[in-house]
Amino acid sequence: MVTLTTNHTTGVPSSLTKVVEIKNLKKSFNDRVVLNNVNLDLYERENLAVLGRSGSGKSVLIKCMVGLLRADEGDIQVLGYDVSSLSAKKLIELRLQVGFSFQGSALYDSMTVRQNLEFPLKRNLGIYDRDQLDEIVMTSLKEVGLERAIDQRPDELSGGMKKRIGIARTLILKPKIMLYDEPTSGLDPQTSEEINELILQVRDQYHTASIIITHDVSCARQVSDRVVALIDGESKLEGTFEELEAANDSNLKHFFNY
Ligand SMILES: Nc1ncnc2c1ncn2[C@@H]1O[C@H](COP(=O)(O)OP(=O)(O)O)[C@@H](O)[C@H]1O
Ligand SMILES: [Mg+2]
Repeated sequence: MVTLTTNHTTGVPSSLTKVVEIKNLKKSFNDRVVLNNVNLDLYERENLAVLGRSGSGKSVLIKCMVGLLRADEGDIQVLGYDVSSLSAKKLIELRLQVGFSFQGSALYDSMTVRQNLEFPLKRNLGIYDRDQLDEIVMTSLKEVGLERAIDQRPDELSGGMKKRIGIARTLILKPKIMLYDEPTSGLDPQTSEEINELILQVRDQYHTASIIITHDVSCARQVSDRVVALIDGESKLEGTFEELEAANDSNLKHFFNY
């Protein structure tokens, strides 16, 4: 991988520790090689954008990180856990600390927003106290600016609102790491910008480390401290957004219109 930043201090203070370390990750489906050689580090408190075209293996990459898919080769360390060799119990422990915001918002359509948000609190934290549930749910809705939607159902909400609620439901367990899969896909530019703002707010408010996978250049520009470009199954370039843009690399033509 070509590292455009001489050290990580451009985007991230070097005193911060790595919360994710991926080395030589490979993943194929039958004969189709999807990830060929991926190397990637994520530091505390940073927003790392992984920029790649559709079908480049971005979703596969983050699924490997939380053990939803098993890597063929390579080493994946997340919060000190060696993901490839985790027992089912340890995997659950890890997943509680890693928020996964799916490409669709993955809300339950038959439940209200309130019920959607209460679900992880009951299932994962065993909270059933009515007052406590109300308080956590309201705080969480305030943070994404959607208190008014509490009794609505997902099919009554706009695409942007659904994304916000999806992010709120992930954040409600206070994860140490957030994984955003195409957070702006299917949204108009204005709504995309609001979601990007929210992603920055999450970093600043919770000091969360996040990986934002996207093919949306404006999203990468707006949210990232650092970017890794995923090209043909490899992590080819790494640096700040400005460094990648200035690199004039033929692999990035598609994104930057050189
Ligand atoms: N479970 C699976 N089984 C077989 N092929 C898969 C599976 N998941 C993803 N793929 C293939 O891997 C490639 C990369 O997919 P994906 O990671 O979803 O791309 P994207 O960068 O758009 O998120 C695609 O060709 C896709 O068809
Ligand atoms: Mg995808």
